[in-house]
Amino acid sequence: MGKLNIGIILGSTRQGRVSPQVGIWVKKIADTRGDANYEIVDIADFKLPFVGEGTGKEPGLIAWSEKISSLDGFVFIVQEYNHSITGALKNALDSVRDEWNNKAAGIVSYGSTGGARAAEHLRGILGELLVADVRVHPALSIFTDFENFTTFKPADLHLTNVNAMLDQTIAWSGALKNLR
Ligand SMILES: Cc1cc2nc3c(=O)[nH]c(=O)nc-3n(C[C@H](O)[C@H](O)[C@H](O)COP(=O)(O)O)c2cc1C
Repeated sequence: MGKLNIGIILGSTRQGRVSPQVGIWVKKIADTRGDANYEIVDIADFKLPFVGEGTGKEPGLIAWSEKISSLDGFVFIVQEYNHSITGALKNALDSVRDEWNNKAAGIVSYGSTGGARAAEHLRGILGELLVADVRVHPALSIFTDFENFTTFKPADLHLTNVNAMLDQTIAWSGALKNLR
């Protein structure tokens, strides 16, 4: 089996978002492992229509379907908005269905309580999409892992957790590739 393709999905699309800093940090750690092809997938690039409102033939929607199909597993970069995931991430999850099925995912979240409430909401959604979400969950504090809520300065202790999350995501992504 060749190397797995793992998408690091940025869950927020707002102007001034911090998610790219978190995604780049995860990718740097992941790339040093050499165990998969890791890429950042930015929902903002796809200009997805709200699910069901378009023709279904929008180029961004077709590209989104192709991108999710091409991936064996995911790392969701999750930020807490009103105790849940962003509307942009929910819409992106809803926009395709079979493309998610029988794959694995890890979650890296942030917020005032580490983004824990958003991450737990995401787990419920992933169950419906037949995505196996792994246990280890790096949870970053918007108070202590960011300066002025904007500049990402993660504490060293998170490195161990990110690698443990990736260990589990890679193992399950490989196992589920066999199932597919
Ligand atoms: C609409 C909105 C709602 C938010 N609600 C919460 C919340 O319920 N809990 C929390 O910890 N942080 C909340 N925040 C703060 C975000 O976690 C913080 O702004 C973070 O930087 C958002 O991620 P982003 O910069 O990648 O968009 C909220 C932010 C926004 C914009």
